[in-house]
Amino acid sequence: KILQPTTIIIFGATGDLAKRKLFPAFYNLYIDGRMPKGFNIVALGRADHTDEYFRNYIRENLENFSRKKVTPEDWAGFQAHITYFRHQLDQETSYIELYQKLQEFDTIYGMRANRLFYLSIGPNFISTISNHIKNASLASDPQKDRIIIEKPFGHNKQSAIELNSLLAQTFEEEQIYRIDHYLGKETVQNILAFRFGNSIFEPLWDHKYIESVQITVAEEVGVETRGAFYEQTGALRDMIQNHLLQILCMVAMEQPASLASGEIRDRKVDVLKAIRRISPDQVDHYAVRGQYGENMADGVGAKGYRQEDGIAENSNTETFAAIKFYLDNERWQDVPFYVRTGKKMKEKHSYITIQFKPLPQSTFSGSPHLLSANRLIINIQPLMDIRLQFMTKKPGLSLDLQPVEMIFDYFACQEDTPEAYETLLLDALLGDLTLFMRSDQVEEAWDVVTTIQEAWESKKDPSFPNYEAGSWGPKSSYTLVERQGHHWV
Ligand code: BG6
Repeated sequence: KILQPTTIIIFGATGDLAKRKLFPAFYNLYIDGRMPKGFNIVALGRADHTDEYFRNYIRENLENFSRKKVTPEDWAGFQAHITYFRHQLDQETSYIELYQKLQEFDTIYGMRANRLFYLSIGPNFISTISNHIKNASLASDPQKDRIIIEKPFGHNKQSAIELNSLLAQTFEEEQIYRIDHYLGKETVQNILAFRFGNSIFEPLWDHKYIESVQITVAEEVGVETRGAFYEQTGALRDMIQNHLLQILCMVAMEQPASLASGEIRDRKVDVLKAIRRISPDQVDHYAVRGQYGENMADGVGAKGYRQEDGIAENSNTETFAAIKFYLDNERWQDVPFYVRTGKKMKEKHSYITIQFKPLPQSTFSGSPHLLSANRLIINIQPLMDIRLQFMTKKPGLSLDLQPVEMIFDYFACQEDTPEAYETLLLDALLGDLTLFMRSDQVEEAWDVVTTIQEAWESKKDPSFPNYEAGSWGPKSSYTLVERQGHHWV
């Protein structure tokens, strides 16, 4: 696909996401020669800044957040593409002025350029902005104009449906790019390459050979400055409904017939539909929630969730969630998919474990050394590698076995991998929707978690806080897997 001249319009350009992720991603793409020949970034904000002031602010932030060095020559080239535009989100005249600005750029390009609207703002403003975009005819060409929005895409299934139909009044589905930044991560994208680019794993990728699948996204950080937002959200909505279910889709999906975005997204929706719904009376059996409490042990000295800013003293919001899912399809009959995520856990570590079944019968069963079943671990971050665990003979005179690992390490091949936002923004510029969430994906994913969400909201958990900051989560999350003779790996 070829990059067309594009005007990028960022709503909320003075906010946190823009400075940490968006401008650094555009800058890095620019250095790599991946931006269109003609492009302009129109940064929208309420304050009355000059271009010069705003460009300096971006430059200072690039020093901290850009993957690539900011040299005077590169910066000089890049900054000329940034324009600051004072804008009031709710005023019609502001959009009329924006229209004129966009036309000025088109005159310079000598053609009607593509337009990429990035809504880097809270979800409450989506409706206002998209209505104004429509009324001012800013996105008049469905072939050229696109909108990017950030999660949360609603806070339950009903509000997600409403959001989707609201966007549909201004944009066609093919113009809407819903970001789940996990899908832009190099190691997450690699799951497809690994599964469907090799002949030796896929034949084993089903219930006949796989005992269980685990997906862990553990975070070391707490809620930091986002207390007010998080208090209304919790781990189920913030992480499981989107990031973890998307990873699960990549692990469980059937082989797509091609790399066409519609094809891949269809196969993911198939997975979401196949996830067995957990009925309200089963929630306690299949799902575990947790909330971190303080940990004053030496070297930890961490606050509990209820002591963080913006959090109620008796908060019922979960900062940890673990769920056991089953998929009702032929491939995954009776294979548990355990997913867990939490804040203030022992360490930052996201990974997938494919636990293969033990040998039905083994020559070595009498061996004093425990025979461990094969296991494949896909480390997503911060470690980025794939490990295959298998048994070998322990060097020596007797025939004893030992488990060993074969490791593929990303960094050994390439020191520097692109940031998720670079991949995603480039795809949006190219018009490739594969890594973005389609409306039905979002709605199905909400459907999967609805009963759990409702049960947790309607009933307080009297055990909160039930795990210490800096630990691996509540005891009940261990019981969830141990009941079936499994262990978190
Ligand atoms: C976001 C969540 O979507 O993902 C945050 O809202 C979370 O709460 C973040 O911290 C984790 O992303 P990453 O890329 O740091 O693993």
